[in-house]
Amino acid sequence: MKRISKIVIFGGNGLLGSAVKRVLVEKNFENIKSPRSSEVNLLEKDGLENYLEVEQPEYIFMIAGLVGGILGNKTRPADFLYQNSMMILNLLEGVRKFSPKSKILYTGSTCIYPKDNPQPINENRFMCGKLEETNRGYAVAKGMGIVACQLYRQQYGLDTICVMPTNIYGLNDNYDLENGHMIPSLIKKFLVAKKDGGSVTLWGSGTPRRETMYSEDCADAIVYLMENYSSEKIVNIGTGFDYSVKEIADTIKEEVGGEYKIEWDNSKPDGTFEKRTDISKLKNIYPEFNPRSLSKGVREILDNKKEVERILG
Ligand SMILES: NC(=O)c1ccc[n+]([C@@H]2O[C@H](COP(=O)([O-])OP(=O)(O)OC[C@H]3O[C@@H](n4cnc5c(N)ncnc54)[C@H](OP(=O)(O)O)[C@@H]3O)[C@@H](O)[C@H]2O)c1
Repeated sequence: MKRISKIVIFGGNGLLGSAVKRVLVEKNFENIKSPRSSEVNLLEKDGLENYLEVEQPEYIFMIAGLVGGILGNKTRPADFLYQNSMMILNLLEGVRKFSPKSKILYTGSTCIYPKDNPQPINENRFMCGKLEETNRGYAVAKGMGIVACQLYRQQYGLDTICVMPTNIYGLNDNYDLENGHMIPSLIKKFLVAKKDGGSVTLWGSGTPRRETMYSEDCADAIVYLMENYSSEKIVNIGTGFDYSVKEIADTIKEEVGGEYKIEWDNSKPDGTFEKRTDISKLKNIYPEFNPRSLSKGVREILDNKKEVERILG
């Protein structure tokens, strides 16, 4: 990519997309557009096609999606299926017809791999088994999106690549306790407990192990792959290391500070025992890739005054 290359980020104001934008700006790319869904709605084919015809982007980061926690996936599974399917199909058709030279990077997710996997999870596990019941709509749509990218590459020669990021946390996260992911929920719970006192009750035994990645590390790998990778084969993006849930809680508590107790409610389910990504393929392509530790990532968030105000607001 050249400094003046025309770059469009769809989803550039969300958790991952905003991190991609920050990384691109840091690397001195000058011609970046990230339209909101109110300006270019990927569900509206005509408006999207018109945008592509006029803009002719050289690079498209397709990071937009309908994303949610267990509750959202459970209550709106058809919306997750429909919207995530239509967004990528509309984009591929639009690019094929009006901007066929655009290179597209599409984000899948490690949470669409089958429910049961040998650890760490390898790219070959894609579409190799029964899906997690709780996010079937999302997983089928995202999996279809990956296959669609591969088929448009095969039939129409579009330069599409697909990546599989692990669980992400970072600036612009969703701090809704009902529907957010584990790291933002813990950060919010501990910040509130630091302010108001009391104790924090967490579910399960604390022994399951989880991998999680700071958004800008994922964005760094995404930008690198856009610049240096072109193949129909998917690439995992993770840290390759994990922590027990108890270690995660202790690390975040240490960074947040304050006097309060953590209580573990053992009557609640632990969930999957282990989920870790095999990143050997990514490391082959990008040997210098070096994601930060959890404590460093959490510190980045806590050092951002605006973000902390948003979390507590
Ligand atoms: N979060 C994770 O842990 C994680 C892990 C692996 C993969 N991913 C993947 O990474 C991508 C981004 O996730 P995220 O967590 O950053 O999500 P997010 O914070 O919820 O952001 C989603 C973005 O998608 C845009 N969007 C939604 N519907 C749209 C539409 N109809 N037209 C145009 N744009 C639309 C939104 O734009 P507006 O704000 O302008 O409405 C928003 O910026 C998703 O594809 C997700 O599957 C996420």
